[in-house]
Amino acid sequence: MGQEQLNSAAICADACEQTSFAFLRHEMPVRMANIMKEINLLPSPLFQTPSVQLVYSWFSRSFTELLKYQNTNENDENILKSFTKTLVGIRNRHNDVVPTMAQGVLQFKSFGMEPLNNQNVQYFLDRFYMSRISFRMLINHHTLLFDDSKRPAQSRHIGSIDPNCDAVKIVKDAYENSKLLCDQFYSGCPGLEISTHNSQDKDEPFGVVYIPSHLHHMLFELFKNAMRATVEHHNKRGSTYPPLNVLVILGKEDLTIKISDRGGGVPLSKIDLLFDYMYSTAPPPHEHRARAAPLALSSESVERLPVFNRTAFRNYMDQPGADDWCAPSREPRNVGITWHP
Ligand SMILES: Nc1ncnc2c1ncn2[C@@H]1O[C@H](COP(=O)(O)OP(=O)(O)OP(=O)(O)O)[C@@H](O)[C@H]1O
Ligand SMILES: [Mg+2]
Repeated sequence: MGQEQLNSAAICADACEQTSFAFLRHEMPVRMANIMKEINLLPSPLFQTPSVQLVYSWFSRSFTELLKYQNTNENDENILKSFTKTLVGIRNRHNDVVPTMAQGVLQFKSFGMEPLNNQNVQYFLDRFYMSRISFRMLINHHTLLFDDSKRPAQSRHIGSIDPNCDAVKIVKDAYENSKLLCDQFYSGCPGLEISTHNSQDKDEPFGVVYIPSHLHHMLFELFKNAMRATVEHHNKRGSTYPPLNVLVILGKEDLTIKISDRGGGVPLSKIDLLFDYMYSTAPPPHEHRARAAPLALSSESVERLPVFNRTAFRNYMDQPGADDWCAPSREPRNVGITWHP
């Protein structure tokens, strides 16, 4: 075992299950309550869809399960074990939240309302998915640290965090996974060219504190986009395509990953739509997946969490105002949305 593995083993051994339990039994229901308040404020036709009702019922059940631990003894081994088991059960119950919520939004759209321009649904989904990432991060971290059956015997990881995450290796892995799909679908795939720059120490490898699975997920989505654009733009089945260029830079504070492709780009008139949950030029998928987040990994990460308060409430109540900038390239906005909270 190297020094690095010894250090992380020591940190893992130091991690206190009781402290984590005491934190989570309070924090998880609070986060759930915040987001449930916002689900409640969705426009009634969306809230009433079977999909959103199902998601809401999962939250209610998980919330009730967590409340049972409020006044229990954190020094009781059995309570700690049962809590970890409950967290695993909650994680499994919520596995299909993303496609189920997407199904609800699609149904809502099919009622004739236009969620594409619906700022409130976009506002809700941004917050809903952000809090989902935080729930799963907390659950995974606790179960990886304290569920003995899941803990790898030798690993430098601390729960789900890699204190020396090799970004270049993850770029290569994500590329390979995306390439498998691309080859299968298009019988060909653009190559990969990586350049790196470590502004701190040219000879040192790129190690950052990060959650490898999150980085992999974001890169995988971006590679899929770049591959599809390149292959469809060049439209030459089985032939060679211009490679994808990836630049990985470790600066003083941040690690930045830039992916460039020659897939024809995105027209300026469509740029605003890229972060819209409902926008895609691909054929309708069977399953909807979470969107990629911007790839700037700060050395001092600050958690941004949705909090249900008066400002959030107003965001559900206010009608979107008329655009005060003219946008000749876009259709006029439909501001006549009716809300039934
Ligand atoms: N690298 C790119 N080059 C050209 N167009 C792109 C690129 N990345 C994204 N786009 C455009 O943005 C749209 C939205 O991308 P997004 O990843 O959000 O959804 P998708 O790829 O269509 O579906 P999904 O990722 O859910 O399978 C794409 O359909 C495509 O038209
Ligand atoms: Mg995509």
